[in-house]
Amino acid sequence: MKKAIYILLFVLFIFTSCNQRSEKTPEEKNALEINKENTDAEKGDHVTDTKMIPPFTEEEKKHYINEAKSIAKTAFNIFSSHLKRLFEEKKPQEALAYCKENALRITDSLAQVHGVEIKRTSYRLRNDKNKPNDQEEKIMEIFKERIHKNLKPTPYVHYDEYGNPHVYLPIIVQEKCLMCHGDPNTDIPDEINNKLAELYPGDKAIFFKKGDLRGIWSIKFPKKTQIAGESK
Ligand code: HEC
Repeated sequence: MKKAIYILLFVLFIFTSCNQRSEKTPEEKNALEINKENTDAEKGDHVTDTKMIPPFTEEEKKHYINEAKSIAKTAFNIFSSHLKRLFEEKKPQEALAYCKENALRITDSLAQVHGVEIKRTSYRLRNDKNKPNDQEEKIMEIFKERIHKNLKPTPYVHYDEYGNPHVYLPIIVQEKCLMCHGDPNTDIPDEINNKLAELYPGDKAIFFKKGDLRGIWSIKFPKKTQIAGESK
């Protein structure tokens, strides 16, 4: 009899401890899920495995965001300078062909130089190769929501499921984007409309308005990036 009680207790013990193990803490459960609240988006330090990765310090967050901003700015400047030249030479159609041939190449080579992964993506795509993943879609929803509430979308930084720091920066539509991403009837000149139809059948990146979210830069850093001042 005594033996049976011991066995029962033992089974109960195993059962409850197993249960506890599989019961994740709310932090763990939420780790991969992006909270829809904007305040959370601002905190931006979702950690996938709270036991393995310490949360970002403010200094680290700033470091990754600044790095990402500087990489995105370089890419933007490279695109812009080539486009500007082609427009000055009155070759807007060639500007489109240039984008099609070089956009991904430019981001790829910048990625190599900086030792990161760079992606420019959108919820309304021109080039299907820029397709967002689930995480990027969630982030874009958060940014759109903020814009909808007349709030500025702030850069988002977190650790991805492999523990890599990952920064997402909003890309906002400016006046100068409209000639290729605005209303085909009023903003986009005919020759560009025609070239777009030729190069990008099924283009969804039109009808954007100034101030809309056009998409995001999604920049993934290697696990250990030496942060200036970290060793102090
Ligand atoms: C000369 C026309 C032109 C102008 C001006 C232009 N774009 Fe684009 N944009 C393109 C083309 C073409 C692509 C597709 C590039 C490719 O094939 O990867 C593109 C792609 C993009 C993408 C990648 C997502 C997708 O839909 O494939 C983003 C984001 C984007 N543009 C943002 C902007 C922003 C922001 C501006 C203004 C600052 C702008 N673009 C101005 C032609 C233009």
